[in-house]
Amino acid sequence: MIRFSKLARVTAALTTPLTAEDFMALFNPVYSSRQLRGVVTRVVHETEDSATIYFRPGNGWHAHQAGQWARIGVELDGVRQWRSYSLSNAAGHDPAITVKDAGAVSHVLVRDTKPGDVLFLAPPQGDFVLPEHPRSLLMLTAGSGITPVMSMIRTLIPRRPDADVVLINSNSTPEKSVFREELDELADQFPNLTVRHWFTSTRGRLEFKAKAIAELCPDWRSRAAYACGPEGFLNDAEDLWEREAALERSRTVPDVTAGAGAEASRTGTLTIERFSTDLTAGAGHDGGLVTFEQSDREVQADGDTPLLDIGEDAGVLMPSGCRMGICHSCLVPLRAGQVRDLRSGELHNTPGQLIQTCVSAAAGPVNLDL
Ligand SMILES: Cc1cc2nc3c(=O)[nH]c(=O)nc-3n(C[C@H](O)[C@H](O)[C@H](O)COP(=O)(O)OP(=O)(O)OC[C@H]3O[C@@H](n4cnc5c(N)ncnc54)[C@H](O)[C@@H]3O)c2cc1C
Ligand code: FES
Repeated sequence: MIRFSKLARVTAALTTPLTAEDFMALFNPVYSSRQLRGVVTRVVHETEDSATIYFRPGNGWHAHQAGQWARIGVELDGVRQWRSYSLSNAAGHDPAITVKDAGAVSHVLVRDTKPGDVLFLAPPQGDFVLPEHPRSLLMLTAGSGITPVMSMIRTLIPRRPDADVVLINSNSTPEKSVFREELDELADQFPNLTVRHWFTSTRGRLEFKAKAIAELCPDWRSRAAYACGPEGFLNDAEDLWEREAALERSRTVPDVTAGAGAEASRTGTLTIERFSTDLTAGAGHDGGLVTFEQSDREVQADGDTPLLDIGEDAGVLMPSGCRMGICHSCLVPLRAGQVRDLRSGELHNTPGQLIQTCVSAAAGPVNLDL
């Protein structure tokens, strides 16, 4: 994140030879022909450890669809760090991100960001988006997983009376529940939205069993479900949907006269958005010497740390995006050696093969084309 004070800009203008690029940036901080930027217009502190940051993006940005995310870059100790954040505002409005203070970048975003600050950006992406035609939806969210769903609700509910959304939103306490008041107001105002808050401090973890979900949303099976939240929450949701589908398959009597193999599953689809990924399956092995050939750097790496982190710590300019194996922005050709996919434990050692550095670790000596 860069802060532009008028004094700093004028001082720089008087003391530094300016390129045309610098000159444009003096008057318009989001101007850059090389790097998309946005200027922060408003910061709203939502809970004690989260904030919504509204920003006005420069040229190169395109309007987001409800549920999409964008890469946001901030400068920490002189190094630009990128993280992904869902866009929480309604589609068609200025973008905003809602961030929970959970580590290095989020801490700076939540605690230090002020109107006038400049963020580095990449355009919105992601396919966790609303279906083309409104239908009965079930949203399952926990913690900061509400952010993409909030964008969907803000986009859909006021504009489409034919939509029908039930939201089950889990948080530890009412005070930690981001957007709680706005959600309650929307549910009071619009009969097509039902909000079920679940507070784990008083009720324990939400149980992903058919009966427990039916108590909150009796027709849950017939709804298209969208879920976003911590890893365990999403795994439990996935397990329930898989169990239900298996149960339905086992109950199906094949219709031999019609030649049909099986009747369509009655349980609706479950679409999931993950903010992190489990990298433990391939952990616990030896690493090796990593050579970044173009950058002329060598680093001894352990077998558990993604090569993306190894490179960044060594000052190598590493391409990256989601940092969790979904966007493929971090693909780099393997020149020689062997890497392990930390999600599965699978080994890759074909020279020229593209590897995802955010989910791969050294498994012996590795040469990368970077
Ligand atoms: C598609 C997508 C959308 C996302 N949307 C959002 C969103 O809307 N809102 C949001 O808040 N986040 C979102 N995230 C997560 C976000 O990208 C970052 O991963 C998150 O903000 C943490 O980054 P960080 O630099 O603050 O943490 P890092 O410093 O990178 O740390 C990563 C994790 O390590 C752990 N950690 C860090 N420091 C410590 C410590 N000292 N002790 C113990 N554990 C520690 C924390 O669990 C932390 O989350 C999204 C991620 C993806 C992939
Ligand atoms: S950074 Fe997205 S897949 Fe690696």
